Amino acid sequence: MSKFMDWVDARFPATKMWEDHLSKYYAPKNFNFFYFFGSLALLVLVNQIVTGVWLTMSYTPSAEEAFASVEYIMRDVEYGSILRLLHSTGASAFFIVVYLHMFRGLLYGSYQKPRELVWVFGMLIYLALMAEAFMGYLLPWGQMSYWGAQVIISLFGAIPVIGNDLTQWIRGDYLISGITLNRFFALHVVALPIVILGLVVLHILALHEVGSNNPDGVDIKKHKDENGVPLDGIAFHPYYTVKDIVGVVVFLFIFCSIVFFFPEMGGYFLEKPNFEQANAFKTPEHIAPVWYFTPFYAILRAIPDKLMGVIAMGAAIAVLFVLPWLDRSPVKSMRYKGWLSKIWLVVFCVAFMILGVLGVLAPTPERTLLSQVCTFLYFAYFILMPFYTRLEKTKPVPERVTG
Ligand code: HEM
Repeated sequence: MSKFMDWVDARFPATKMWEDHLSKYYAPKNFNFFYFFGSLALLVLVNQIVTGVWLTMSYTPSAEEAFASVEYIMRDVEYGSILRLLHSTGASAFFIVVYLHMFRGLLYGSYQKPRELVWVFGMLIYLALMAEAFMGYLLPWGQMSYWGAQVIISLFGAIPVIGNDLTQWIRGDYLISGITLNRFFALHVVALPIVILGLVVLHILALHEVGSNNPDGVDIKKHKDENGVPLDGIAFHPYYTVKDIVGVVVFLFIFCSIVFFFPEMGGYFLEKPNFEQANAFKTPEHIAPVWYFTPFYAILRAIPDKLMGVIAMGAAIAVLFVLPWLDRSPVKSMRYKGWLSKIWLVVFCVAFMILGVLGVLAPTPERTLLSQVCTFLYFAYFILMPFYTRLEKTKPVPERVTG
């Protein structure tokens, strides 16, 4: 075996990569619950790719047959219903995991210097993931697939001058049709998965270049033993690989319970109108995007002017990209930041969740007012960040991690 590895290593850096990224990658020893979600995101990504490849074997991307081919997968294809539900539940699980992963970043200042690029690559993944989910949602060709895509694509029509041409270019037709379905299929199945996989590699390479942050936000590289190993670091493999397996088992237990017993999740993971085939002549009573888009949809609807609404929605995502440069705090972790940072983080998360709920519901004057207040708070969190992070009094950060 060792002779074989010598032969490989002389031609390909297999052992070097194993050591650099696993057996000699030293991660802080104080990772907590929130550090499970990076590896869980990887797990869900693999689940989506594997189940997606198998679904593609029996799915037909045409306006005439798409809906029926999904029913065929659900009823006749061997293990087809499990494959489909693993994939549809996986989409929601992906966003749950990624939102918790991003929240960890906010909590412990993981986006701060020197991890700005880790965060920016993460945001690019998030954007690509939203495009991937949006396009995948058209494929079952149900009523919500059709009308959801109709609402979102028509938003581009609000852009002055080029708006109408742009919407036509995206659809490839005067209305959403089999042509749109075909291109969304190509993007969902080939182009975007490649982009996402590439970005995940860049994300992890950028992280391993600078090393992981931790719940204390202290730099473990400051204190090393005589061999250059950080005193507060432990080898990723075997210590965190084994720990992550615990997270994977707990996650799979919850995930499989949903797949087998509540795959529709009360209409949130699989929406009711999508059990009816797309019909261009019949608008569903209430059109709402899937839950993971609803906070941004609520921001869109909070602004009365369509163009301004689209701009606000875009800005709500764009502002996350510059987060590393808005936080001026001398400390990383919320444990040592002042109370202003803590209050604003809570306000931001509550506003985001209220927007998420409002985005599902039909608008009323009271709900629109509430969504305006929450949109204001959402942006205030970012705009005021350079001020409150500099003004507040922080606690002293320990030299070593606190366990
Ligand atoms: C497919 C989606 C994603 C995958 C597979 C992924 C994977 C990972 C992995 C494996 C880690 C190291 C383990 C950990 O710290 O949990 C990590 C760290 C990190 N990720 Fe992601 N990630 C994804 C999306 C995102 C997004 C959307 C963001 C934020 C915009 C993000 C921001 C970060 C940050 C800041 C770290 C460093 C955390 C620290 O050291 O404290 N990631 N990611």
